[in-house]
Amino acid sequence: MASISYTTQGFILLLAAASLFAVSEAKTIVVGGSEGWRFGFNYTEWVLQNSPFYINDELLFKYDPPSEKNSGYSVYLLPNLWSYISCDFSKAKILAGPNQGAGKGFKVELNQWRPYYFASGDKNGYNCKDGLMKLFAVPLPHWNN
Ligand SMILES: *[C@@H]1O[C@H](CO)[C@@H](O)[C@H](O)[C@H]1NC(C)=O
Repeated sequence: MASISYTTQGFILLLAAASLFAVSEAKTIVVGGSEGWRFGFNYTEWVLQNSPFYINDELLFKYDPPSEKNSGYSVYLLPNLWSYISCDFSKAKILAGPNQGAGKGFKVELNQWRPYYFASGDKNGYNCKDGLMKLFAVPLPHWNN
C-alpha cells in the first residue's frame, strides 16, 4: 500500500514539475504588427502593448529596402541601456542590413533571459533618435504558464 502511494505521489510530483516547465508554443511576433519596422512608429509603445515576451519567442522585423522614401533601415543589437537611450551605435552589432527586411523579413530568436536592445542604425542614429526605431525587451522564462 505504502509503495503504491509513494508511486502515486512521485507521479503527481512529476506532473507538477512537468507543468512548471511546460514549454508553451514559442511565438513569432511581427515587430510593429502591420506597420512593420519603419521610421516614426513608436516601438516603445508597441512593446508595452505586446508584452510580455517569452524566451524562445521570435521577433520578426519586416521593412522595405532603401528607396527615395527611406535611406535604409537595419537591425542592430545594442550592448546596454545607455547605448539604447542615447542611440549610440559605436559598440553595436549589426544583425540585418537594409535589404534583409524584405519578403519574409528578418527573424531574431529571444533565446536568453537577458535584456535585448534593438535599433535601426544609420545616419548617426537618425532612425533611432528621430524615427523612434528602437525597442527594448526582456523575454521571460515560462514560469507563469
Ligand atoms: C512613445 O510611447 C511611449 C510610451 O507610451 C511614450 O512614453 C513616449 O513619449 C512616446 N514617444 C513619442 C515620441 O511619442
